[in-house]
Amino acid sequence: MKRIQDFNVISYTWLNDDNYIITLGSETDIECVEPGNFAEIKVPNSPDVFLRRPISILDVDHQNNTIKFYIKAIGKGTRQLGNLDINSSLNIVYPLGNSFSVIKKKRALIVGGGSGIAPFILLASKLKDENTEVTFLIGGRTSGDVFLTDEFGRYGEVLVTTEDGSLGEKGMVTQHSVFSRTMDFDLIYTCGPDPMMKAVANIASEKGIDCEASLENMMACGIGACLCCVTPTIRGNECVCTEGPVFNSKDLVW
Ligand SMILES: Cc1cc2nc3c(=O)[nH]c(=O)nc-3n(C[C@H](O)[C@H](O)[C@H](O)COP(=O)(O)OP(=O)(O)OC[C@H]3O[C@@H](n4cnc5c(N)ncnc54)[C@H](O)[C@@H]3O)c2cc1C
Ligand code: FES
Repeated sequence: MKRIQDFNVISYTWLNDDNYIITLGSETDIECVEPGNFAEIKVPNSPDVFLRRPISILDVDHQNNTIKFYIKAIGKGTRQLGNLDINSSLNIVYPLGNSFSVIKKKRALIVGGGSGIAPFILLASKLKDENTEVTFLIGGRTSGDVFLTDEFGRYGEVLVTTEDGSLGEKGMVTQHSVFSRTMDFDLIYTCGPDPMMKAVANIASEKGIDCEASLENMMACGIGACLCCVTPTIRGNECVCTEGPVFNSKDLVW
């Protein structure tokens, strides 16, 4: 169930100058969260960042009442969220949106780029619980843009591409040799920049594999009221915040 809840900042883990994991704690229990759900986070004491910012839920710990987000600081809101005092209060609305399908006893390929890697820790842990074998393919411009590979490695094989060849295979994610091997995956999950997701969806379609893409359209309300996040689908325009963010790529009119 959706909830508005106050949390305290427990810690930051900085991955480089612009990328961090923020851990928040609460005195009350944490709602059940499905992989792919996101939160709308209010940037505190910031009149110039009026709207909440949508951020995927990276992980939750129900025993310790903590929730984690991986954030790429690209503008005012995401920078200010990375600059709060420890113990300061943060108000979030969550869990929002739909979630990825969790397939059982199958093989899954997870393709992520940029901040789009965030929903995949929770997803991988649920897939592992269901005995689904996971292969990750993570792309970045250079090795310094590739994060969380150790965490992903706890759940499956991790493949990497970088555009400059500084880590993994050289090129874009869709040029990775995994796509030229026999593709015996039952489902491909993807999240990241739109061009990357479209290219992944095209490959999935050519190979006859289902593909779920999690869109990161700009959002305002996060609850289906303002219509600023709509995306065209075969059913007409749909709100990414309520009907998504996860769509079967066959349903998207890209
Ligand atoms: C469902 C969903 C889940 C998301 N999950 C994460 C996550 O886990 N981690 C994370 O770091 N980011 C995530 N994002 C993206 C994040 O919401 C934006 O980066 C953030 O809102 C930017 O706010 P800002 O104030 O820092 O930037 P602004 O000052 O508002 O904008 C800075 C620049 O970023 C561009 N921008 C703003 N929002 C987006 C967006 N959604 N996509 C692409 N470009 C944008 C603006 O056009 C502008 O050029 C997610 C977005 C959605 C919709
Ligand atoms: S963000 Fe307002 S309708 Fe989706």
